[in-house]
Amino acid sequence: MKKILSLLSVFIMICLAFSGSAFAATGKAATHKAVAKAPALSKESKDCIACHKEENPGVYGPWAESKHAKNGVGCYECHKADKSRKDAQQHNGFMIGVIVSPKDCGRCHAKESKQMTESHHAKAHQFTGSLDNFLGRIVTGEQNFNLGCAQCHGSTVEVLPDGKLKGGTWPNTGIGRINPDGSMGNCTACHYRHGFALDVSRNPKNCGKCHQGPDHPQIEIYELSKHGIDFDTNREEIMAKAKTKNFVLGKDYNKGPVCSTCHMGATRQLPSTHDVGARIKWTLRPPISKVLENGEKKREDMKKVCSECHQQPWTDGFFQQFDDYVKLYNDKFAIPATSIMKFLAENKVTDPTPLNEIVEIHYWHLWHHEGRRGRHGAAMNAPDYSHWHGMYEVAINFYFMLLPAADEAVAARKDPALSAKWEEFRAKIMDSPEHKWKKGMAKEEAAQVIQFYQNRYGKEGGQ
Ligand code: HEC
Ligand code: HEC
Ligand code: HEC
Ligand code: HEC
Ligand code: HEC
Ligand code: HEC
Ligand code: HEC
Ligand code: HEC
Repeated sequence: MKKILSLLSVFIMICLAFSGSAFAATGKAATHKAVAKAPALSKESKDCIACHKEENPGVYGPWAESKHAKNGVGCYECHKADKSRKDAQQHNGFMIGVIVSPKDCGRCHAKESKQMTESHHAKAHQFTGSLDNFLGRIVTGEQNFNLGCAQCHGSTVEVLPDGKLKGGTWPNTGIGRINPDGSMGNCTACHYRHGFALDVSRNPKNCGKCHQGPDHPQIEIYELSKHGIDFDTNREEIMAKAKTKNFVLGKDYNKGPVCSTCHMGATRQLPSTHDVGARIKWTLRPPISKVLENGEKKREDMKKVCSECHQQPWTDGFFQQFDDYVKLYNDKFAIPATSIMKFLAENKVTDPTPLNEIVEIHYWHLWHHEGRRGRHGAAMNAPDYSHWHGMYEVAINFYFMLLPAADEAVAARKDPALSAKWEEFRAKIMDSPEHKWKKGMAKEEAAQVIQFYQNRYGKEGGQ
């Protein structure tokens, strides 16, 4: 019994000794200021550096300046790979992997890794079956290379028998990349190696690499909103603060805001998050917008961000305007347009192949391009996107492209019964108060509209 006890105590002492050294190696001992010193670099990482400092100054340099270097996190700590891993390769006496996946980073950054992995970002590669995918693979014929979609959404990285990564599927830093270890997502989509500097991640252009263009112009919207202009004007001051961990809205800074301020960053009331969907009420992506699960709670969190710079009536008033905009888009255009497409499909006016008929292209533009632009513009304060690039184009499309194309497609069938059914269906939509104007206004009403321009520009105006 005595022997067992003494063995046990030796065991406990060994455990304590090990946990003590592990403690020091993770840098947590830094809280004991008196004994703190920079954690040493491992012997393995020193070996890597002996070659790579010369071989790749552009890898070594940013790393040497990084927080990782200062905390003893070297090449080996990130690149080491268990030999069971598909992409493990023998490399000058070490087992390494080129890819450092969210699982690898998660060994030291568990919270960020979990939040990112559970967010929509990590799922961005799962678009098979979508119309976007059909457009990319079939209509434009891009199925054989990984430029375009995969650069934003992520590729499936394939591995050769010797553990090297297969060119074509690599390099790739898309946000929902599927990694050889089975994990989804990619930390270097936002954290540039090997500096991993926070000012790069917080730079709005970093998000804009993907959040741009005709179907999701968030960066264009932001840059010409008052928030973006305030950031641009105070860029140097804000970016200097954005280098550090102390970037709490309302405490460390109160200008900007940048994209990550609203969607990720810490405020005096909120912790930071790597789930970019955590503060969003609506999804503005599908043809008809829906309120997300726990949408109201998420909205409350977003309001907490605004509240560091605005008062509640301002914020509440703004969100009322935004919600009304989304409802108008849904009710006046998206729901009727969707029901028209359903009518055409059910009555076999359109065939099952997607996007091979002009009416389908008009519908696609209405929700995927014009409708999204408008909704995004309304969400993030860009008047031109809300109206001229947004609802204006939705309305022109609905009345002058989609409806006439549907009329023509039905007429081409030369089926009187079908035409009658269509007329009845169409009238239900077009006789409603919000569409009635299209049938013509009273003479005096129309004259009034023209008169406005004639008053401003003379007789030629208003034609
Ligand atoms: C003896 C010199 C030497 C040592 C030691 C060394 N490397 Fe390398 N490494 C190279 C050279 C040369 C290349 C480029 C040719 C190649 O891929 O082997 C390279 C390539 C790489 C690559 C890219 C491989 C690819 O498939 O794209 C990574 C990642 C890498 N090294 C990491 C490391 C790490 C981590 C260590 C330490 C555990 C290390 N290296 C140790 C010389 C070295
Ligand atoms: C904090 C983790 C981390 C540390 C520390 C780190 N790397 Fe990397 N390294 C990465 C990531 C992430 C990638 C990109 C792979 C990916 O997309 O997953 C990468 C890619 C590479 C590549 C291939 C990319 C290219 O541009 O050719 C090389 C070579 C490399 N690292 C070498 C090194 C060396 C040498 C060191 C030490 C001086 C080092 N790394 C330290 C995370 C790290
Ligand atoms: C072996 C543990 C370890 C691994 C693996 C690791 N990190 Fe770190 N990371 C650290 C430590 C320690 C710090 C410094 C923490 C501090 O300053 O409090 C740090 C800091 C950071 C920072 C803040 C940098 C700054 O300038 O303040 C970022 C961003 C980061 N890591 C991202 C990553 C990413 C992305 C990966 C994977 C590609 C990764 N880390 C892998 C331990 C690690
Ligand atoms: C410039 C980067 C970029 C490119 C290129 C790109 N996308 Fe996207 N995609 C995005 C972003 C960003 C979003 C999210 C938009 C939003 O929330 O407003 C998105 C959204 C989507 C969605 C909607 C997902 C959902 O949850 O509703 C699908 C499907 C999609 N993309 C597929 C594709 C396909 C397929 C291609 C290539 C034909 C492609 N994308 C090209 C960046 C890109
Ligand atoms: C969509 C872009 C994006 C992706 C993807 C991303 N990050 Fe971040 N990360 C950021 C931003 C922005 C910040 C600064 C947030 C803030 O202001 O609080 C940050 C901050 C961090 C920090 C510093 C947190 C601190 O202590 O203040 C760490 C560590 C980190 N990220 C790790 C990761 C890891 C690990 C992954 C992959 C699992 C990852 N990030 C993926 C954008 C991203
Ligand atoms: C002032 C705060 C703020 C800033 C700055 C901001 N956003 Fe937003 N963002 C919002 C709000 C509010 C919404 C709508 C949330 C809701 O549905 O309730 C939104 C919605 C979104 C959506 C969801 C779209 C969808 O399809 O569902 C994306 C993506 C997005 N923002 C990206 C960005 C990017 C990228 C930037 C920077 C270029 C940015 N945001 C800057 C507040 C902000
Ligand atoms: C490498 C490309 C890429 C980068 C960089 C990127 N995103 Fe995204 N983001 C996407 C894609 C793709 C989606 C759509 C994912 C899906 O629905 O499958 C998305 C979706 C989103 C959403 C909607 C989330 C939801 O739950 O509906 C928000 C908000 C967002 N991103 C904000 C940001 C912010 C803020 C940054 C910068 C800090 C950023 N993104 C950087 C590609 C990117
Ligand atoms: C870091 C501070 C900051 C944050 C956070 C912030 N704003 Fe602002 N906001 C400003 C500044 C500065 C202006 C420009 C003030 C002016 O017009 O004098 C502004 C202007 C606005 C405007 C007027 C836009 C225009 O074109 O006139 C609205 C609406 C608005 N913010 C709503 C919001 C909402 C909603 C949120 C949260 C999702 C938010 N803001 C978060 C600083 C902020």
